[in-house]
Amino acid sequence: MDHSAYSANKNRYESGMKYRRCGKSGILIPEISLGLWHNFGGADDFEKGKKILHHAFDRGITHFDLANNYGPPYGTAEENFGKIMSTSFKPYRNELFISTKAGYNMWDGPYGEWGSRKYLLSSLEDSLKRMKLDYVDIFYTHRYDPNTPIEETMQALADAVRQGKALYAGISNYPAKAALSAYQYLGDHETPCLLHQEKYNLLYREPESEGILKQAVENGSGFIAFSPLEQGLLTNRYLGGKIPEGSRMSEDFFLKKETLTPALLDKINKLNAMAKDRGQSLAAMALSWLLKDQAVTSVIVGASSVNQLKQNIEAIKNNHFSKEELTKIEQILSHNP
Ligand SMILES: NC(=O)c1ccc[n+]([C@@H]2O[C@H](COP(=O)([O-])OP(=O)(O)OC[C@H]3O[C@@H](n4cnc5c(N)ncnc54)[C@H](OP(=O)(O)O)[C@@H]3O)[C@@H](O)[C@H]2O)c1
Repeated sequence: MDHSAYSANKNRYESGMKYRRCGKSGILIPEISLGLWHNFGGADDFEKGKKILHHAFDRGITHFDLANNYGPPYGTAEENFGKIMSTSFKPYRNELFISTKAGYNMWDGPYGEWGSRKYLLSSLEDSLKRMKLDYVDIFYTHRYDPNTPIEETMQALADAVRQGKALYAGISNYPAKAALSAYQYLGDHETPCLLHQEKYNLLYREPESEGILKQAVENGSGFIAFSPLEQGLLTNRYLGGKIPEGSRMSEDFFLKKETLTPALLDKINKLNAMAKDRGQSLAAMALSWLLKDQAVTSVIVGASSVNQLKQNIEAIKNNHFSKEELTKIEQILSHNP
């Protein structure tokens, strides 16, 4: 198929997608964002990934989340995204909000990971080349580096913005105390933190318990949740206790088979019954549960098919939970048979 044949849905902004403001900034992002960690690398089916990206944009998803090391192999999700950027998405650059990150292992030697100025700025250069972009909309430090002065890491982000290679700066995988220092440094250097990206879902609640959500709001930063479906556990994928062929758990790497214990199965089946009563899929309910809180600017979902993405977008239709429903969810999650 000729990539240039793509023409975005004319009604993309009337299809129901809602947009939330990132903290105290001028930027609105969709409640549902799409991440390219899995399913978009060199080892994946390019045409399928392209269909997912097209569908996303056609439904008003304007935010795509990448990182230098997404693939596999590392860098290939950015390369594939670059192919789409230079063809079908080319006319829409100004409508897209594209992120990348650097922090995890990317190349050999002492300058290929963590939070030094050298690593971050050279990695951003490489990311821009792979994605065929002049700039990214947001550049993140992908993880807190306890051995590099936080001032060095933050100054590299601020300089990336100053150089026009990123429009905004963000942090990911930062503990609360380090995040506070990051907000302060970036704010003092006229590059306020646009988004704090952390894992957050029904089964993983650290942003609540560690006060990260509250802290982001207090400091004028947006908050964006990654792995909102706990890599597929909070969907119908594993409800029967079987591990479907081709599923993320079947790879037994990022999502380990041992996670699927009888106690967890019991919980997700009970949550699924609740979702049914609400007229939602489990995936949609899990996302709605995150979006009920205005402190959550967006959730970054992954999807291995257009159908999964369609189901996930349904979450925006009902973000209201009664007090009784919220209590019941907590009872289900805390019950250990
Ligand atoms: N900052 C960080 O350190 C960090 C870390 C992780 C992720 N992220 C970002 O967050 C994004 C999302 O992470 P994630 O992929 O772990 O998110 P997720 O939404 O929790 O999990 C996505 C996976 O769940 C399954 N799934 C999704 N929707 C489904 C549905 N409706 N029904 C059945 N199964 C469904 C699919 O797996 P199958 O393959 O089994 O179909 C899909 O690939 C990443 O792409 C990345 O952009 C950031």
